[in-house]
Amino acid sequence: MDSQRMVQFLFALLVLVLGFLCQALSNEGICQTKKTCPEYFLIDTPNKDFETRLYVETLWITTPIKSKQVFEVMAAHNRLKHFCDRQTAQGYPMPDGWPVLITVVKVADTMNANMSWFVPNKTEMAKTSDTDVWLQTRPRGYVYVRAFGGMATFEASKENVEKLQDHLTKAGKSFVANHFSGATYNSSWALNKYNEIWITAP
Ligand SMILES: *[C@@H]1O[C@H](CO)[C@@H](O)[C@H](O)[C@H]1NC(C)=O
Ligand SMILES: *[C@@H]1O[C@H](CO)[C@@H](O)[C@H](O)[C@H]1NC(C)=O
Ligand SMILES: *[C@@H]1O[C@H](CO)[C@@H](O)[C@H](O)[C@H]1NC(C)=O
Repeated sequence: MDSQRMVQFLFALLVLVLGFLCQALSNEGICQTKKTCPEYFLIDTPNKDFETRLYVETLWITTPIKSKQVFEVMAAHNRLKHFCDRQTAQGYPMPDGWPVLITVVKVADTMNANMSWFVPNKTEMAKTSDTDVWLQTRPRGYVYVRAFGGMATFEASKENVEKLQDHLTKAGKSFVANHFSGATYNSSWALNKYNEIWITAP
């Protein structure tokens, strides 16, 4: 995996969606040919407020983010990085998958967050005794997406979650407001960053 990758804290919501109409498979705009990203189908014609996607079932390596502090976000990044380094050392190099996904569940005043790196299907991995990094399946499902540029700081992410939430409310979509998730697609040194807020649905 890309050792240069650094992650900022992001946010998103879990949403309930009803009804869909499948269109073309389309992740090329975001990932082009240079990046390995999860596959999805575009459900709605993109509008300026948000996009609706249907993601296939996907595999991730996941680790907890123990607090909102930047050093804990970095610590999570480093655990995933070291996991990949150990896999490589055992002869199983990990593909450079994108995005970096941060999922947050807020219950009362407590936030529970995980950081995940996308792992393409059929990636061969060595068995590990790791307890802090695990393989996680994200089920097939619908996601509302709002894109934004610049640094995905906690504040910028929160602001974009609220905007997306407003747009969804106006569009008549219902959602659960305590489940946030977000995605970054660029290394820390990239000037022209691309980020997304994801609000998933059953
Ligand atoms: C950041 O990632 C987006 C999405 O993959 C890509 O379109 C853009 O070119 C990247 N920016 C840089 C500077 O690499
Ligand atoms: C990966 O595997 C899952 C589960 O079998 C499947 O649903 C998904 O379509 C696969 N993804 C790709 C890109 O083939
Ligand atoms: C983090 O991952 C663990 C194990 O899969 C799960 O139990 C927990 O709910 C996840 N937390 C979030 C915020 O997604």
